[in-house]
Amino acid sequence: MAHSIIIIPNRVMLFVLCFFLTKSLVLIHGQQQVPCTFFMGDSLSDNGNNNLLVTLAKSNYPPYGTDYPGGPTGRFTNGKTVPDFIAELLGFDKHIPAFATAVGSAILKGVNYASAAAGILDETGIIVGDHISLNRQLLNHKATIASLSLLLGPARLKDYLNKCLYAVNMGSNDYLNNYLLPQFYPSSKLYTPDQFSAFLIHQYSQQLKTLYDDGARKVAVFGLGPIGCVPPLLAMYPVNVSGCVDFINDYVKLFNDRLKPLVEDLNTNLPAAKFTYINMTSISLGIFSLPGITVSNYSCCVVGIALCEPYQVPCSRRNQYIFFDDYHPTQVVNQYTAARIYNALLPSDAHPFDIHQLAQQ
Ligand SMILES: *[C@@H]1O[C@H](CO)[C@@H](O)[C@H](O)[C@H]1NC(C)=O
Ligand SMILES: *[C@@H]1O[C@H](CO)[C@@H](O)[C@H](O)[C@H]1NC(C)=O
Ligand SMILES: *[C@@H]1O[C@H](CO)[C@@H](O)[C@H](O)[C@H]1NC(C)=O
Repeated sequence: MAHSIIIIPNRVMLFVLCFFLTKSLVLIHGQQQVPCTFFMGDSLSDNGNNNLLVTLAKSNYPPYGTDYPGGPTGRFTNGKTVPDFIAELLGFDKHIPAFATAVGSAILKGVNYASAAAGILDETGIIVGDHISLNRQLLNHKATIASLSLLLGPARLKDYLNKCLYAVNMGSNDYLNNYLLPQFYPSSKLYTPDQFSAFLIHQYSQQLKTLYDDGARKVAVFGLGPIGCVPPLLAMYPVNVSGCVDFINDYVKLFNDRLKPLVEDLNTNLPAAKFTYINMTSISLGIFSLPGITVSNYSCCVVGIALCEPYQVPCSRRNQYIFFDDYHPTQVVNQYTAARIYNALLPSDAHPFDIHQLAQQ
């Protein structure tokens, strides 16, 4: 008797607690703002697409994923990536699945095609092994669209795709794994930095138009971050007073200064297009002022060749580091970056829309 008296109020309590938890989760996540989100990109966005490829560019082993629920997944960080945080901010209840593993109706919420070592150019990154270049990511997207057509019916498909959000981060590897490796690639002999940025932007404009032709209307295009600040390049080249390798950031600027006008051109020339430029330089300037960040010039994990050595214990104070391995930010930096992509802090962060505004269009 005494037993059941204790049990019943507990059940009631549990019910009340669950009710409040569910309510507050709903309040935190809010409504899902777009029917689906598609990501294209490189290792900054990859969430497992390289796991089954023959390549050195993989991260499906510890210490990657140390802070991700369930451990290593193929994300190149200790926890969540920028796409993960963007999906959360957009109100999705799950992270967007990797193309390599997405099955069945899961693709209705979108797909992540990103692949480490990938670039705008097909030949970028081939020295580290197989990867899915932007052109191949666009082909994979066509395969997804064919599946969506079966799920939704061809009549609903176009309208559905028009409402989805697309985010593309590409180009870092066209420098890191191409132009800056003259021993493997002829690009720096064939093109001046200015010509190379123009060449990349020309390719990129075709690829972004393909995405538009395949139904994308709301597209966030990420500019390049200051890749002249990554630890291996600081070790390889003389470091300027900025604390970074300025000439490499100057290459990045040539690219970004062409990308923003491209975005404006696409909006002007393609009916109903809402492209937006995300200024990663502007956003990354704030990372140094993030409370607690103290280490910017070396990685949190023990690095072998660019990536973390398997099974080595990473630094314990991961929130103090900008870089988890030699190239990829820690989760705390990804969260900060995603927050400013979603809700611009400065007018320079996003033009003409941040992702929150883009979703409302
Ligand atoms: C950066 O450092 C290099 C090598 O020391 C030097 O040649 C270059 O002029 C510096 N650039 C700037 C903008 O200070
Ligand atoms: C990005 O932001 C930086 C810092 O505010 C600014 O100097 C730069 O001109 C911006 N780039 C583009 C392409 O708008
Ligand atoms: C990183 O920067 C700090 C402070 O500027 C310096 O003392 C340290 O030697 C640097 N470490 C590496 C690995 O470059």
